[in-house]
This record gives sequence, C-alpha cells and structure tokens, in this order.
Amino acid sequence: MTSASMATAVGSVGFTQEFDPFDLTDPFEFYARSRAEEPVFYNAEIDHFVVTRYDDIKAIFTNWNLFSSENAQQPLRPLCAAAKKVMTDGGFTAYSGMSARVPPDHTRIRKIVQSCFGMRRFKAIEPDIRQIVETAIDRFAKSGAVDFYAEFARDVPAFVLFKLVGVPDKDVTMVKSWAVSRALLTWGTLTDDEQIPHAKNMVQYWDYCRALVQKRQDNPTDDLPGDLVRLQSEGADISGDEIAGVLYSILFAGHETTTTLMGNGLRELLEHRDSWNMICEDPSTITGAVDECLRFSPSIAAWRRTALADTQVAGIDIPKGANLLLVMASANRDSAVFKDADIFDIKRTDARKHLTFGYGIHACVGQQLSKMEFAITLETLSKRFPDLRLAPNQTFSFIRNSSFRVPVALNVEWDVKA
Ligand code: HEM
Repeated sequence: MTSASMATAVGSVGFTQEFDPFDLTDPFEFYARSRAEEPVFYNAEIDHFVVTRYDDIKAIFTNWNLFSSENAQQPLRPLCAAAKKVMTDGGFTAYSGMSARVPPDHTRIRKIVQSCFGMRRFKAIEPDIRQIVETAIDRFAKSGAVDFYAEFARDVPAFVLFKLVGVPDKDVTMVKSWAVSRALLTWGTLTDDEQIPHAKNMVQYWDYCRALVQKRQDNPTDDLPGDLVRLQSEGADISGDEIAGVLYSILFAGHETTTTLMGNGLRELLEHRDSWNMICEDPSTITGAVDECLRFSPSIAAWRRTALADTQVAGIDIPKGANLLLVMASANRDSAVFKDADIFDIKRTDARKHLTFGYGIHACVGQQLSKMEFAITLETLSKRFPDLRLAPNQTFSFIRNSSFRVPVALNVEWDVKA
C-alpha cells in the first residue's frame, strides 16, 4: 500500500497534516483532539499509523505476537549510503540489545538480564546515588542560580549507571555524546551530511561495548557486565556479542531517559508550586510525585511497533508490515482511564497506570532505578532548597525528534544563605 492510499484508507487527512511528529514542545491539546475524533491516523512523513488512545496502545503492547517491536530502533529517516558505509567499514553490527529483539531470543536474553538486574543491585548502589546527587548539588549550591538540566540532570544518571556497569567516571562525557548520536540517528531528522559524524560515533560506541565484555572476561568484577559474563561462563545461553548488545542498550536507555525525567519532572513540580511545597513539607509525597511526573510529562513520548499481519486498531485497517507510533504521552492523559487527566496532582491514586515505561514483554527493566534516582534527587533538593523556583522569563523548548521529550535547558534559582 502506498502512503497516499494509506492516507485515503484512514479517511480524513486533517490530522495527518496537522501532526508534526518531531515537535514535542506542547502536543497535548492536539493529542486530546485526536483521542476524541481520530484516535488512529496515518502520517506519511514518517510512514507510521499514529495511535493515541490508552486502551488501544496497551492492547498493542500486550499483543506482541501481532505487533512486533522489531522496528523500535530503526532510523525514522533512513541512513544515507555514506553513513551506512562508515558503520559497515567500522564493523558496527549492533542493532538492539533488547528492545527490538523478538521472542524467542528476546525471552532468553531478558531472563538472564533480569536475574542480575533486580532491586538487589539497585539498592546496593543507593548510598552511591546519594553521594553522587549531593556532590553534584554542592558544585552549584552557593551560586543561587543554575541551568539544572546542564549542570545536574545531564550527568547524574550517567554517573549512577556507570557505577552499575563499572565504567570509569572519565568516560561519562564520551558515552553521553554517543547516546546523543544514537538518539539523533534513530529518532531525529538529520540531513545526510549531518549523519556522518554520528555514524562514526556509533562505531566507537559499539567497539566500547565489545571491549567492555572482553575486559570482564579477562578480569571479572562485581558489576552488571561482570555478572553477565559470570553467568555465561556458568552455562547461561548468551553470547559475548549479545552481552555487548545488552550493554549497548543500557548505556543508552539507562541514563538519557532518567536525565529527561529529572528535567521535565522538576519543571512540572516548580510550575505547580503547591506540589513543590507539599514535597518540602511532607517527603512521603515524593513517591506519588515521581509517578505523576512520569505520567504527566513522560521522558519517552512515543514508541514503535510493526504489524505482522493485516489487522485493525479502533476500526482502522492496519496492513501487514505497517509501522505504528504509540503515543504514550497521549495515553497518559486519556480521561477514559485517568480522572481529571489534564490536572497535575501528586496525590492522585491512578498515576501508576501510566504507559511511560511501555507494557508487556518489553516493559522497561530499569524503571525502579530511574524512580529511585529521581526520588533521591527530589528528597535532597527539597531539603536543601525549599525556596527553589523557576528563573523568570524562560521559554521551554525541546530537541526535535519523535520520541524523547528532551528539554534544552531548565534555569532555576534559590536564595543563598550567608
Ligand atoms: C524515566 C526513565 C525511563 C523511561 C521513561 C524508560 C522507558 C522505556 C520504554 C518505553 C521501553 C520500551 C518498552 C516497550 O517496548 O514496551 C524501555 C525498555 C527498556 N529500558 Fe527503559 N526507561 C527508563 C529508564 C531505564 C533505565 C534506568 C534502564 C537501565 C538501567 C532502562 C533499560 C531499559 C531496557 C534494557 C529496555 C528494553 C527491555 C526489553 O526490551 O525487554 N530503562 N524503557
């Protein structure tokens, strides 16, 4: 089916023309109209059916036999020949560690990863997380004003994750830059020329993951890759390149998204001042606040699936092979599921039903860690700077891409005590 005939097949072209898949600045009013009037529509620019209602998205996540995740990491804008050559010549063979793998391989690998990736490991590094958070805050505490995104959120989750993975602090900046390259090549809108330096970064990134596995095989350590290599040596059915693939997944998914949660979440809490005051007065409200930030202002706004057979979603024909963009940022505001869905309320009891971490067999394996990191951050900030506020006269903008709602900056202020 061609793009044009797909657009005709789903009726109105109004929604598809109005939809800018790469603009995540303030899409919520558009999502609300889509949920009410056209909850599934085709967008030719990215060649995806866009799905905006909660129940449809949850059902698609659940039905992995029909809706596969194998397109989850495919570049939305295909790589140019020169970028592909850079990657092929450089020996880049990674594609996805987990999120775009499908059963039975996915089931086999996920089981092994989960066995060494539970709360036990996360809790064990809780003191390190507290230390990393305090140290980062100490650096700007006396200044009275900071770009919280650049000076805190960008690096803190990477330092935490690298503790878990056993990567030295000196590599943080480098790995962060590879993660940006991965995001822009996969979900962004780069021109052919712009793709080249990012393709080179991907080669370095993949080499780094493979070298990390080799290092642990030579010298086992007590960290996540060390655990995976140990399990492999004890007979677990996972290859060295599959372990490198898991690291390739985690060295991206394990920090960028938490960085964004911290940026978006703190902004929401300061914009809704009553919520911030509530946290300062009663830290037990932080758990609910974290869930509400994830629901209301998700780090990942949309994720992808592909249909393995002709089917229908909300009465719209979806042909075999079609791509679907599942807009969790819309699902999370669906009033069929959430009471007063457009109201930010850290005391609501239904926030945890949000779909920000996906759902079903691929549901995020790092969700407890990211929630713990953000909760510790809020605990520390609210204790040290109860008068924290947004700097006046700033507009909030977000990096252009289809999935990650990444703020460009978050300027905050507080009074410095003599
Ligand atoms: C706010 C933070 C985070 C968000 C919003 C987030 C979101 C997601 C989403 C939407 C998926 C895909 C789910 C699906 O396809 O159904 C996913 C999968 C995944 N996430 Fe996260 N994530 C976060 C933090 C983390 C962290 C901290 C880690 C690791 C330390 C992590 C590791 C992974 C991995 C390995 C997968 C693939 C799981 C699979 O395919 O079985 N994520 N995450």
